[in-house]
Order: sequence, then structure tokens, then C-alpha cells
Amino acid sequence: MKKTVTICFANNKGGSGKSTTCGNVGYYLAQQGKKVLLLDGDMQLNLSLSFFSEEEVLGMAQSEQNLYHAVRLQKDLADFIVHTPYENLDLIPSSTLMSGIEYELFTKWQRELILRKCLQSVKESGEYDYILMDAPPTLGGWAMNLLCASDWLLIPVEASPWGLFGLANMFEFFNTVRQISPELGLLGIVVTKVNERKNYFRQTMDVLRGMENVYTFESYIKVDASIEWAQDASQPVGAFRRGCRSAAEYEALAKEIDARLNA
Ligand SMILES: Nc1ncnc2c1ncn2[C@@H]1O[C@H](COP(=O)(O)OP(=O)(O)O)[C@@H](O)[C@H]1O
Ligand SMILES: [Mg+2]
Repeated sequence: MKKTVTICFANNKGGSGKSTTCGNVGYYLAQQGKKVLLLDGDMQLNLSLSFFSEEEVLGMAQSEQNLYHAVRLQKDLADFIVHTPYENLDLIPSSTLMSGIEYELFTKWQRELILRKCLQSVKESGEYDYILMDAPPTLGGWAMNLLCASDWLLIPVEASPWGLFGLANMFEFFNTVRQISPELGLLGIVVTKVNERKNYFRQTMDVLRGMENVYTFESYIKVDASIEWAQDASQPVGAFRRGCRSAAEYEALAKEIDARLNA
């Protein structure tokens, strides 16, 4: 039986590439023969929209076929899985109502661990090699649920002047979560939206590589308009434009993540 590895893509800074990286790494892990389940944990529905049209996503959001309803009613997530158009790649979509999840969790017993319990049977079944979760840009009770249900935290950081801003808060939050879930590890940092001609790319890399006990992935993702075109077409970039640069970069990143976890 497989051991399922769960990874949460989180950073409290919005626009750092969480949803893009989660979806495209998921696509390439699936292409590389791994069985992958994606969990859309953000009310902005971006991960869901990376694989389904707006109409389909809003349909799932308005029905009960989504993560918000599953968690609110504390149901087994096995019953909320939808297949994406790609082999080996499944998704549990989000809902716009996810904006109210903090309130729903507030009065619940052991409220940090609700998602972990909802996910338990899927994880223990060993059906998936990877469960990848896309987190919202907030550090509250719901982000805590996502991290308490994860083995690893992966932080996408945008190579921009403000890209590192708030990272200290993210580390602090990680340490708080570890008091509840000591087995959570920091898988590493992935640098996204890179423009190699700009100085702050080098500065970002130097700061990150200088941090003790923090791994920065060798693979990084450059700015590429194909990513936005692919998102507009509700497709991972590798399916939209197989030969493009960011497709190759995400393919390499997926391999690096898999290799790091199986080293
Ligand atoms: N490598 C890239 N090149 C160009 N645009 C990108 C790239 N990565 C992400 N984007 C764009 O940047 C924005 C933020 O990315 P997103 O993944 O949604 O970040 P987050 O989930 O952290 O808020 C989106 O509009 C996305 O299309
Ligand atoms: Mg996002």
C-alpha cells in the first residue's frame, strides 16, 4: 500500500504563486505516474478554476460537492472527490462560502483538527501518492486546519521587492502549528515569478539561501505569460502549451519535490 504524503502550499502573502504552483506541480506529479488529489482550500476558487470552467466551478460551489460543505458537516472527504480531465489527478473543489469557514469552525470541538479527521480515511486508504492543498493568504484557524492535516509545508515566494515581506510571520505560524502537530515539516521554499534581469531576484535568492534550516528548491519559476493564458483556458500550463518554458520548469520542480521526499 502507498504511503500518502500531504503537502500544504501556503504563504500569507497573496499573489506569491500558491495556487499556480499547487496546480501545476500536481499536474506534473500525475504526469510522472503519481496518483494525486488536490484540495482547494481558498474561497477564491483559483485551484478549482485551473482545471474546470467558471461555470463548472460555480456549479460545484453552489452544490454541496465542495470542501466547505464537507468540513462544515465533518464528512468523509472520500465522497467529495471529482476527477479532473487528466489521468491520475483528482480534486476537491472549493466554495465561495469558504469565506465563512472560520465562523463555522469557531464553536467546534478540537477545531484545529477537523480537516485532518475528514481526510483520515482518504489518507489511510493509500489510494493517493500525494495530497496537495492550496491555502488562502491568511493565517487563521482554517490555515491551521490545512497545516494540521499536512505532513509538509511548502512556501512559494514571489521574487519581488516585497516577496519576502511577511515570511517571518509565516515561520512563526509554522512553529505555532507544530505545537499542535509536531510532525509537520518545512519541505522548502519555491521562488516564483522570477525575472532574472532584476536585481531583487539575486537578493531574494541570497537571503533565502542564507537561511539556516530552510531548503530553497533549485528549480524556480520565471515570469511567463503562458501561465496566465493557461489559467484563462482552465488548464495546467503543461497541457495548454507543453513545450513552453514554465511547463518545463514546473516539470522539473515536481521531479525535485518527489526526489526530495524519496531521498
Ligand atoms: N510564473 C508566472 N508568470 C506569470 N504570471 C504568474 C506566474 N505565476 C503566477 N502568476 C500570476 O500571478 C498571480 C498570482 O498567482 P497565484 O498562483 O494566484 O498566487 P496566490 O495563490 O499565492 O495568490 C496570478 O494572476 C497568476 O496568473
Ligand atoms: Mg491562491
